[in-house]
Amino acid sequence: MANTTRRIVVSGATGKQGGALISSLLSTPSQPFEIYALTRNKTSKSAIALSSKPNVFVIEGNFDNPSAVFRQVDKPWGFFSVTNPMNAKKEEAQGKAMTKAAVDAGVKHIVFTATDRGKNSDEDATPVPHFASKFEIEKDIVEKSKLNGGTWTFLRPVAFYENLSNDFLGKGFISMWRLNGNQNKLKLISTKDIGKVAAEAFLKADQAQYKNKAIALAGDEISLDEAAKVFKEETGSTIPETFSFVGKGLKFALHEQLGIMFNWFKTDGFGVDAKQCKETYPFLKDFRAWLRTESAWKK
Ligand SMILES: NC(=O)c1ccc[n+]([C@@H]2O[C@H](COP(=O)([O-])OP(=O)(O)OC[C@H]3O[C@@H](n4cnc5c(N)ncnc54)[C@H](OP(=O)(O)O)[C@@H]3O)[C@@H](O)[C@H]2O)c1
Repeated sequence: MANTTRRIVVSGATGKQGGALISSLLSTPSQPFEIYALTRNKTSKSAIALSSKPNVFVIEGNFDNPSAVFRQVDKPWGFFSVTNPMNAKKEEAQGKAMTKAAVDAGVKHIVFTATDRGKNSDEDATPVPHFASKFEIEKDIVEKSKLNGGTWTFLRPVAFYENLSNDFLGKGFISMWRLNGNQNKLKLISTKDIGKVAAEAFLKADQAQYKNKAIALAGDEISLDEAAKVFKEETGSTIPETFSFVGKGLKFALHEQLGIMFNWFKTDGFGVDAKQCKETYPFLKDFRAWLRTESAWKK
């Protein structure tokens, strides 16, 4: 009998979204996939933890050498694509090269996690470099998938709740948000919830909801004043924040990665309607639910 096992290569497996996808698949009864979890370092703590899970095989590789990644998997069926946004030009090149290697290896369904890009994500790359790179990677996936009759799902999440943390970057995130005004609303989402939708995109790849569809995702839309109030109510503490000059300094020093994006949050902002998302995916957490159940401040 032909071997019909569906093998999925998961990039970013040791990170938030890839890790959440794997957890979600593993919590699905009789999930049908063999999961090939990609990392640059098999001996890291998170890679070792993954290797002990059922049906998970950790493979070592780098976005800089995509064919070597897919050579390690016999007849891969699916690919979860997460990209590294620190240098947008490099992100685009690596993302496209990973797509090519996946399609060359015979992958039939690619789930790419990109980002929401405002009112017109299908047409507007936005001025944010690491949003524009994802726009180009999406277009490339559409073209390359046609070469082998493959399909795709794009996830377009908004900002992650996980950006909030008690460390320098987490406090800087709130300071940069405050520079946009206390009433400035930001759309946010839990990466665990992204993982749940990613799992569905593989499990139901041939269904109309996911086949060649782009899905924008948000769990909440909230102003900083509202977020600070909810944070205080849930944790008893003030929301972790630093001086506004630090926020300004971060926006200046990391202009390409953070400065342009926070300016865009103010002038344009994410387009997806969080309430509508919740109608489709009732499990999407609002900020309070995330604080209560998943955050570092959960009781
Ligand atoms: N933060 C937000 O609010 C937000 C919102 C929307 C979209 N995004 C996008 O989400 C993406 C990041 O996803 P994430 O936060 O889930 O990831 P993450 O937690 O930051 O983890 C990064 C993952 O990428 C892997 N990785 C990095 N460079 C690699 C390379 N050269 N070769 C192979 N693997 C590599 C790492 O694996 P190893 O270290 O194990 O090798 C790790 O698993 C970015 O594209 C970002 O723009 C972020």
